[in-house]
Amino acid sequence: MTRFAQFTAVALALVAPAFAACDYGTHLYPRERTVPVSTFGYNDLIGPLNWFGLNKTANKLCATGQHQSPIVLDSSIATAHGSSISFSVEPSPLGSEFENLGSTLEVPVNGSLKADGKDYTLAQFHFHTPSEHRINSEYHPMEMHFVFSAPDKSTAVVAFLIALGVPDLLLSSVFKHVEEIATPGHTTETGPLVFSALESHLTSNAIYTYSGSLTTPPCTEGVTWYISSQPLQIDQVTYGRVKEVIKFNARYTQNKLGGVNLLQNIADELK
Ligand SMILES: *[C@@H]1O[C@H](CO)[C@@H](O)[C@H](O)[C@H]1NC(C)=O
Ligand SMILES: *[C@@H]1O[C@H](CO)[C@@H](O)[C@H](O)[C@H]1NC(C)=O
Ligand SMILES: [Zn+2]
Repeated sequence: MTRFAQFTAVALALVAPAFAACDYGTHLYPRERTVPVSTFGYNDLIGPLNWFGLNKTANKLCATGQHQSPIVLDSSIATAHGSSISFSVEPSPLGSEFENLGSTLEVPVNGSLKADGKDYTLAQFHFHTPSEHRINSEYHPMEMHFVFSAPDKSTAVVAFLIALGVPDLLLSSVFKHVEEIATPGHTTETGPLVFSALESHLTSNAIYTYSGSLTTPPCTEGVTWYISSQPLQIDQVTYGRVKEVIKFNARYTQNKLGGVNLLQNIADELK
């Protein structure tokens, strides 16, 4: 070993741990924080057809409710102009936490919604693939849900269907490190998040609005939905990366609003 090579080896040995420390908390060095994994899912006996069976008290409405979501959005569902509601999400210039809950991929964020005379606070947004709502019976590859609550405990969801098309700046940044949360319970970080384009997409297109339910247990009703009639777009490559992690997490389409619950109907038919 030459004197120079010796010096280089020593210098590298000293420098390498410093690089590792700088990367702690970034995608090169994921944080070890974990999140609880959902007890319900989308396959076999933990799937949507048996959510009632997982807890007959807590999840009763999943099998008996008559205003359940998701539904087909067609001309029977009320529409309003997007500018009739005020939807605002705080930007995260350094990125946000991104969590795999087993049942969905979720980003905690702050924001607000003013709609139908009520003020709501945002808790998180998350994704479904394929879409849960269907426009004129047609499904889309993905759906994004922003979940809000009001001081009176009522819930509102602002939703966007997502079609395949051109890359979207926000979605590309959300899913920047999605491979790192392939295992349920793991967390990583999104890229920088800016929502101004999403906010103007919502306010410049018509929205469907109806009173339905959570699409996951306990299927609570009285949830006000505001769904953009115009899908966002995501590029094929990003969509493929996301689908490989989420795999499948859409509840089956429910009966028309006010109609018998489809599970209750089957139970009656089998008697
Ligand atoms: C079912 O849900 C209720 C709350 O509605 C809870 O008190 C109970 O512990 C749950 N039962 C099981 C088996 O998880
Ligand atoms: C949301 O706001 C609260 C209160 O200002 C703050 O503590 C929290 O870090 C914010 N969360 C995010 C994800 O920005
Ligand atoms: Zn959802």
